[in-house]
Amino acid sequence: MTDEGAGGGNSPPLVVLEGITKRFPGVVANDDVTLELRRGEVHALIGENGAGKSTLMRVLYGIYPSDSGRILVRGELVKIASPRDAIAVGIGMVHQHFVLVDPFTVTENVILGEEGGARLDVDDANRRVADLAEQYGFRVDPARPVEDLSVGEEQRVEILKALYRGVEILILDEPTAVLTPQETRDLFDNLRKLREAGRTIVFISHKLDEVLEIADRITVLRRGRVVGETRPADTTKAKLAEMMVGRPVLFRLEKPDVTIGGPVLRVTDLRGEGKLNGISLEVRSGEILGVAGVEGNGQRELAETLIGLRRPLSGTIEVDGRDIAGRNVGDIRHVGVSYIPEDRHEQGLVLSMTLWENAVLGRQNDPQFEAGPGVLLIRKIKALAARLVKLFDVRARSIDVKASSLSGGNQQKLVLARELEVDPKLLIAAQPTRGLDVGAIEFVWKEILDQKAAGRAVLLISAELDEIYALADRIVTLYEGRITGEFAPDAPPEQIGVGMLGGEKQPVAS
Ligand SMILES: Nc1ncnc2c1ncn2[C@@H]1O[C@H](COP(=O)(O)OP(=O)(O)O)[C@@H](O)[C@H]1O
Ligand SMILES: [Mg+2]
Repeated sequence: MTDEGAGGGNSPPLVVLEGITKRFPGVVANDDVTLELRRGEVHALIGENGAGKSTLMRVLYGIYPSDSGRILVRGELVKIASPRDAIAVGIGMVHQHFVLVDPFTVTENVILGEEGGARLDVDDANRRVADLAEQYGFRVDPARPVEDLSVGEEQRVEILKALYRGVEILILDEPTAVLTPQETRDLFDNLRKLREAGRTIVFISHKLDEVLEIADRITVLRRGRVVGETRPADTTKAKLAEMMVGRPVLFRLEKPDVTIGGPVLRVTDLRGEGKLNGISLEVRSGEILGVAGVEGNGQRELAETLIGLRRPLSGTIEVDGRDIAGRNVGDIRHVGVSYIPEDRHEQGLVLSMTLWENAVLGRQNDPQFEAGPGVLLIRKIKALAARLVKLFDVRARSIDVKASSLSGGNQQKLVLARELEVDPKLLIAAQPTRGLDVGAIEFVWKEILDQKAAGRAVLLISAELDEIYALADRIVTLYEGRITGEFAPDAPPEQIGVGMLGGEKQPVAS
């Protein structure tokens, strides 16, 4: 690639956002932000949760009007009042949550909304989508219904949809948050091809290794303001993290030296509908057992069965020697099991409720908080909420705001606060840092290590191998609902990778 291709040179910027300010009630999401996008660059936009990345790009994509500032595309002042306007000037955006239509095929989704799209010749349309996919190396079958696709494939369809409309600038809002390591590599191959073809990509992420790998330039936002612009060659992960958070961030935490005790959780030949095909495992007190695996191999089913959200078909689940298989969530929590669900929006919090209501979720029938059936002791609950918010540094204006108004990191802190406050014997943590930025990840990791230090048993289910390495004392791999290997905490990733792909059970030194 030439310097000009990488956006150096004298060519005028393709897009200029100039002095963009966008306020929401009580918050300045973007504060006088100026940003230039050049032709043929991957421009990473990074920052902590709530820094204003999505808002800035939604302004560019015409979803929000800005309060002040202007946008120039190809040197000309433009008014972008809707996504339709954005697409008309060549700007497309793929959101964090996809908006595909399930029973329709890939092709139908790609051309949906195009004039005459639905009436097109099917073979011809499939061929055109296949050609487009081929051009940039997207692996996807045009004739397949979208409901059969993996998350990674759905994302490809969303990108193809934008490309089909001829966009030159493609905004990807945290595209890798939902992908496996392999899917991320595939996406990066696609992005490199797009860049070679002269497209411009805005890559929003807070995974710094990825940003350093794929970006040509990096802009860092903090609290709505641009705090710096740099290039991968001129910076490091530690420098970027410090720019994002405003303080130095540790990437390796000390694992506390704890004597591992007797078994707290013992699962024997657990089977369930869907994806549990005979799982046996044990977690001891003071131990973090890491369950590694590509998502969709039974992780969700395992966690939900252990906490009582799903009924097992057979097998036993013992906590402290008591069989809890098939009991309900309330009973299982009562035995001393806490749960950080992988989807804090579906299971961790009720977003439309206040922080104080969320703080007592799952314990609302505890006599501590309930005077009689349905009669909540609001004052006690609010006192609990205030304590949790303070202890876990949940940044919110008050405990009366809705959970939906918090950033992802602060939502997760609230879940953690509630789940850890009860001093569980066993903590089940499922993808506990998904979608969080480095500052919040560090916080969550520290809390999990503190649980170990306090002698609790932790079952850590994570698709991030980095996270497993950072925390686990022992690692097992999950593949198609079975445990396919057991590894020491320092086993090489290639070995663990074999287990993640179903490889033979490794012999363990005992
Ligand atoms: N639709 C909205 N209404 C009110 N506040 C919002 C809205 N969208 C974002 N915000 C607030 O604006 C700030 C920036 O959010 P956002 O752009 O989503 O950050 P990021 O994408 O960097 O995590 C946050 O404080 C967030 O709570
Ligand atoms: Mg965002």
